[in-house]
Amino acid sequence: MQSKTFSNKCATFAPLLARYIIRSNTQEMKVTVIGAGNVGATCANVLAQKEIANEIVLLDIKEGFAEGKALDIWETSPINLYDSRTVGSTNDYSKTKDSEVVVITSGLPRKPGMSRDDLIATNAGIVKMVTENVIKYSPNAKIIIVSNPLDVMTYCAYLTAKVDRSQVFGMAGVLDTARYRSFIAEELNVSPKDIQAVLMGGHGDTMVPLTRYTTVGGIPVTELLSEDKLNEIIERTKFGGGEIVKLLGTSAWYAPGAAAAQMVEAIVRDQKRIFPVCAWLDGEYGMKDLYLGVPVVLGKGGIEKIIELDLNEGEKAMLAESAEAVRNVMSVLDNMNVDA
Ligand code: NAI
Ligand code: 2OP
Repeated sequence: MQSKTFSNKCATFAPLLARYIIRSNTQEMKVTVIGAGNVGATCANVLAQKEIANEIVLLDIKEGFAEGKALDIWETSPINLYDSRTVGSTNDYSKTKDSEVVVITSGLPRKPGMSRDDLIATNAGIVKMVTENVIKYSPNAKIIIVSNPLDVMTYCAYLTAKVDRSQVFGMAGVLDTARYRSFIAEELNVSPKDIQAVLMGGHGDTMVPLTRYTTVGGIPVTELLSEDKLNEIIERTKFGGGEIVKLLGTSAWYAPGAAAAQMVEAIVRDQKRIFPVCAWLDGEYGMKDLYLGVPVVLGKGGIEKIIELDLNEGEKAMLAESAEAVRNVMSVLDNMNVDA
């Protein structure tokens, strides 16, 4: 009888204890978000509300901007009941010292009529300068790039940081897959929670959503949606970023900010989540020396493993086309000698 009461008590306190352990693991954890604009501030807000780190530094080049955003977010803490601190900084990188993870969102967003690649010259200069400062103060940080053109800005950060490839990677696949999953959920009128999918390739019109690896509550999506409907959803996903730019006059931020925060959480909490991430390939998928979206295991070590799927000939061809598009933009960056 006594032991039953004891085990009941254990059952009651175990979830509380687990929450305490997760919280205490993140006690000394600092995460930095560079760029306090739409995506950066949204990411910081999600990180704070989910208490993913106890200190979240938001840094921007615009005087007072990051401080203002950080203060505004902090003032939601008594309402939303969290105690992560958000701290703002105008270009003072000493405040970012010893960050576990740094998310780089600084750079221009797209305007209507612009492609992501139109941003390359301006954003490469910004990403290079920012990465130099980040590495100076946090040499072991995992760096998540968000700035566009994504695959090439991640390459730019990698060239600048001169650290292991497991430490520098880009956020695009989590966002693109979220769009794809949300469109499927809408079409089938089911919960987006039950949609699992893999999407590969570059963050652009050549991205490769893989219907063969898309399931709805474990059921292959091809059993629930016609080929025509799936193709329609794939096309909408490929141009999902542009759809928002057309509606808003600038690019998206809620889903991108949440996507970057989800990657931060996987690292900080060592969750070993499987996400599509823009990773440096060194022979995987028969490709070398380029950044491309592939499924990876994300944990405390950053990219802990790249998962190699057994692609069929059609999928391989789509991936090769996407890789070619990324290589073309990478060569623009190479000709700019950004790592000189
Ligand atoms: P935004 O204009 O709202 O914010 C950018 C911020 O960067 C500004 O506050 C600006 O002052 C700051 N900044 C510029 N130069 C800086 C520097 N040297 N140091 C520190 N901060 C600097 O733009 P938004 O909407 O937040 O987008 C940011 C970037 O993310 C864009 O390049 C956009 O294309 C990209 N993006 C990428 C996505 C992805 O899936 N990878 C999704 C959405 C946006
Ligand atoms: C997006 O996909 C523009 O890359 C940005 O929303």
